[in-house]
Order: sequence, then structure tokens, then C-alpha cells
Amino acid sequence: MLPEIDLTDAASLLEGALKTFPTPDAGPEVLLTRQQGQVHAFAPNCPHYGAPLEKGKILNGKLICPWHHACFKLDSGHLCEPPALDDLPKFAVREAGGRILVQVPASPPASTDKPEATPKAEVGGTPPAPAGAPTDTRTFVLVGGGAAGEFAAQALRREGFAGRVVLISGDDKIPYDRTKLSKAYLAGKAQPATLPLRQRAFYAQQKIELLTGTHATGLNLASQEVELAGQPPLRYDQLLLAPGSVPNLLPKLPGHDLAGVLPLRTQADADALLAATKAAKKVVIIGSSFIGMEAASSLIGEGRQVTVMTQEKVPFERVLGPEIGAMFQKLHEEKGVSFETEAEATALVGEGGHVAGVQLKSGKTLAAQAVVLGVGVRPATEFLQAAFPLEKDGGLAVDAFLQAAENVYAAGDIARFPLAPAGQPTRIEHWRVAQQHGQVAARNMLGQRTKYTAAPFFWTQQYGKSLRYAGHTERWDEIIYQGDVAKQDFLAFYVLENSVVAVAGMSHDADLIYIAELLGQGALPSPAAVRTTVSWASLASAPRA
Ligand SMILES: Cc1cc2nc3c(=O)[nH]c(=O)nc-3n(C[C@H](O)[C@H](O)[C@H](O)COP(=O)(O)OP(=O)(O)OC[C@H]3O[C@@H](n4cnc5c(N)ncnc54)[C@H](O)[C@@H]3O)c2cc1C
Ligand code: FES
Repeated sequence: MLPEIDLTDAASLLEGALKTFPTPDAGPEVLLTRQQGQVHAFAPNCPHYGAPLEKGKILNGKLICPWHHACFKLDSGHLCEPPALDDLPKFAVREAGGRILVQVPASPPASTDKPEATPKAEVGGTPPAPAGAPTDTRTFVLVGGGAAGEFAAQALRREGFAGRVVLISGDDKIPYDRTKLSKAYLAGKAQPATLPLRQRAFYAQQKIELLTGTHATGLNLASQEVELAGQPPLRYDQLLLAPGSVPNLLPKLPGHDLAGVLPLRTQADADALLAATKAAKKVVIIGSSFIGMEAASSLIGEGRQVTVMTQEKVPFERVLGPEIGAMFQKLHEEKGVSFETEAEATALVGEGGHVAGVQLKSGKTLAAQAVVLGVGVRPATEFLQAAFPLEKDGGLAVDAFLQAAENVYAAGDIARFPLAPAGQPTRIEHWRVAQQHGQVAARNMLGQRTKYTAAPFFWTQQYGKSLRYAGHTERWDEIIYQGDVAKQDFLAFYVLENSVVAVAGMSHDADLIYIAELLGQGALPSPAAVRTTVSWASLASAPRA
């Protein structure tokens, strides 16, 4: 039995408190909370990127991380929602003689995976590896080793599936954190070792057959087989399709195939971009998408000029609105990034086969030794064309259970799913949504019949400033602001047909936890109520029928 540490006076931990305490002799810190009189003790940092969980919130028996809304069960520390991959370490705790006594291992599993740090996988304990010979003779095949595929594989094991799991990835690398590519990795702050979501040994330990560098080329629904390049077809009992997206490469733009014109989707893309921009003094980014703008914030500096050219009046005009877009543009300009707005590229010009500039419709030419294409993506569904009637944009329609056909599910960027509560068919390109899809699909492959009903959530980070966004909409009638957009301290409520359908915010992490929870329950107040002072904490905690 571990020795007990006398942590604090019991009276100092009030009902509802969530507070980190130091341990004597500079030992590991402990997060304490008191809920309905009972004290709980946890590791203090989120296993995702190490957010201080004392800034999180407890709602409906879950501890929710303030940064990207990973959530952990209060009674066990078990992971209930991504983007964390592991449980939160929970410690034995009791009250005696007016003190709070905790048993903490001398070196508890590290739970500080900062974006720059090498991930310490399995911090809170992974599910036990399936023991001995498989007790289930079924084969579940997952196509795509990205956000959705990786999370689905681990969810299958967490749910106790003891059959064969085959995870197929066209990428040569083991599954990695794509979201870091345009941020810490491109800025040179995160090394390649920090990218993998899991170490290779994890897949062996979990008996997940990970086939990297393996391409699915077709699907035979009748024989339940995935066709693979250069290999015999693979028969499945249940199949998950999660091949993500491929970047748009502007094939009609003259000069698009010059050296130094690069997309940013994979680690190999990011490596090529790092190599191309090392010596480049002038970089042009085509497109003010999240990837384009994050790339600009990572590449500016070191004597490099960065210009973002966009068709929009201000960046993010169509996704966040002009006010927030103007604030981001100013933030970038203060750091030295230039903008060419309402601009159209007519050609990429080259010298000796390498890009030298971007010609604009206005007649201007922007000099560039490297050009980043941040002009959107499309679903990587070419190999599914013969098997399914695909949507116009290449998406694959699924039902609320993420099912596309008998024994076939789809998740992540490719899935056009009915978005709760209205059920509008929607395709969303967010990391956490893809992971949540992976989890829901895995459960349904096991016959659980679970619907995807969460409120979508994403984040972007530029110059260390984070914008978080819950809900989803591609259009709005009005945006209601609380706070000051220019000071990066605000909430923006997107109103469509007299309902708030999405909310963006900066410096309002706690409010966004409550708001995302309310959105997920379809319980956000009306636009009229939002205009008055709202206590998000009491609204989110109010009992609902
Ligand atoms: C640079 C960058 C930064 C981003 N930052 C953020 C962010 O900050 N926040 C956010 O919410 N979202 C972000 N996103 C979006 C997010 O990464 C995606 O929405 C998410 O990865 C989608 O997950 P997925 O599982 O559908 O596909 P992916 O993660 O793209 O994984 C697809 C996998 O399938 C494989 N594959 C494709 N075709 C085949 C085939 N035929 N056979 C076998 N394997 C195949 C691919 O190699 C890949 O491994 C970012 C995206 C990029 C590119
Ligand atoms: S740091 Fe907690 S979810 Fe990202």
C-alpha cells in the first residue's frame, strides 16, 4: 500500500471546488475536488496537451478539460471523450481528523503531454491487452490511420472486442497528431518524435494489426472485401471507412506543378515545407483557411516575408464573420504577415522549374521561393466510387449511427452525417469530431446502436492565441457578440432562423465548456436571452427534463 500524504485541511476544500495542491518535498501535485460532499483526487494535468484541469469544469459526473474538451469520469478518471487518448490517473483519497489524505505514487504516470513534448502514451492506463488466443473469430477492418481510425481501434479494445482488428493506413508513418503539423511542428518547436499518437509497441500490445504504407483501392460490398494495392483482398466482418481528406492542388492553375508549391496535409508534406521554407526569404500562402493562417503564424520570422493571398475581404469571413476575421488579420499584420485580400491567383511563375512568384488577376506578381496551398480539401473517397453513390463533394452519406451500408460504417472527414438536433446532413472536418465518430462507429460495429449526438468542437491556435468553436453552421442571419473581439476576449453567437447554432470564443474557456454541453443537449437559450446577461454555469447545471 502506498504511504498517505497529508495534503490539506478538509475545511479548505469547499463543495464544488476544483483545486491543485502541492505535495511535500516538491512531490507530484494533486487535483482535488469535492462533489456532493465526496472528495476525489486526480493528476492535475490533461493527458492530451497538459492543460491545468483546475481550470476545467465538472458537469454531469464528468471532469471537462478547458482547452479541447477531453472529458473524464469523476468516479474513475476514465476517458469519456477525446481528444485525450488515455484515462486521467485517479488517486485513493480519504478524510480523517479534519485533514485530506491522498495516496500518490512516488512518480505517478506523467500526464503532461505538452504540444512540444514527446507524448507519454498510455498515461492513465490503457485497457488490458486481449489475453491469449482470440475468443472472437470476427475481423474488423479500419481503413485510415488518422484521427477516426486510431480512436476507433482503441475504442474497440476498450469495449472488450477480442477479435482481429486490422488498421490500414496509406501513410508510411504510424498514426500521428495531424493538428500539430501547421502549428508547433511547422514552427520548429515540436520534433518528429512528438507527433505519433501512440508508440508502435502500443499497437502490438493491443493486438491491433497496423499496416502502414498500405492503400485500399476498392471495396466489394457483396463479398465483404477491401481491395488493397499489391496485396490480396482483406475480408471483413465489420468495416470502418475513415480515409480523411486530400488537399486541393489547384490543377487548373498554370504552374501548379512547379517545385516549391506545396500542400500541408501529411507529415511528409510538413517536412517538405520545412525544407522548402528553410532558405526561402519570401513565402506566399494561397488561401486564408485555418491551415493557411496557422502556417503563416508558424512561418513568419527568421527574416522571412510571408504573404497570405485570399479571395475573401478578410480571412475567415465565411466561417467566423468579418469582425473576427479582421481581428485575426490585425494579429498577423502586427507579427509582420502581409495580406492580399479579394485577390485571385492567375498563374504560378517559375525559374528553372522552381516557383518564383504568384501572378494575381490585378496584374501584380508576388515574389515567392515557396508557395503553400491552403485552399481546402476533399474527401479521399476515390477508391469508393464503384461501391457507393458518393455525394457531389465526394462525401459518403451515413445515418445517425454512422452506417453507410450493411456492416460498413464511415467516420471523420468523409462522413456526411445527420447533425443533431435537426438532423441536417453535414460533413465536418475537425480532429475531435473524427475521433468521436471513430468511437461511435466502433460501438456500433459491436452492435451497440449508438447515435452521434455531440456538439461539434474545434480549435485553432495562432501566435499562442486560441479560438475555440462549438456547434456548426455554414451560414447565419446574425452574430451576437459578448465582450470585445478586438481584445481577443469575447463570445460570438451565430444565429440562424432564431436559434443559436454555433458559438466561437477567445479567453472564455469556462463559458465554452458550459455552452458546448448545452448545445449538445439542444438546451442553448434563445438569441433574445443571449443578449441579456447569462450565467452559463447555472444554466448548464440546471436539471433538465
Ligand atoms: C495541418 C492540419 C492542421 C489541422 N488542425 C486542426 C485543428 O487544430 N483542430 C481541428 O479540429 N482540426 C484540425 N485539422 C483537421 C483534422 O486534422 C481532420 O479533420 C482530421 O484529421 C480528420 O480525421 P480523419 O480520421 O477523417 O482523417 P485523417 O486524420 O486525415 O486520416 C486519414 C487516414 O487515412 C489514410 N488513407 C487515406 N486514403 C487511404 C486509402 N485509400 N487506403 C488506406 N489509407 C488511406 C491516410 O493516410 C490517413 O492516415 C487539421 C488538419 C490539418 C491537415
Ligand atoms: S489539453 Fe485537455 S483536451 Fe487538449
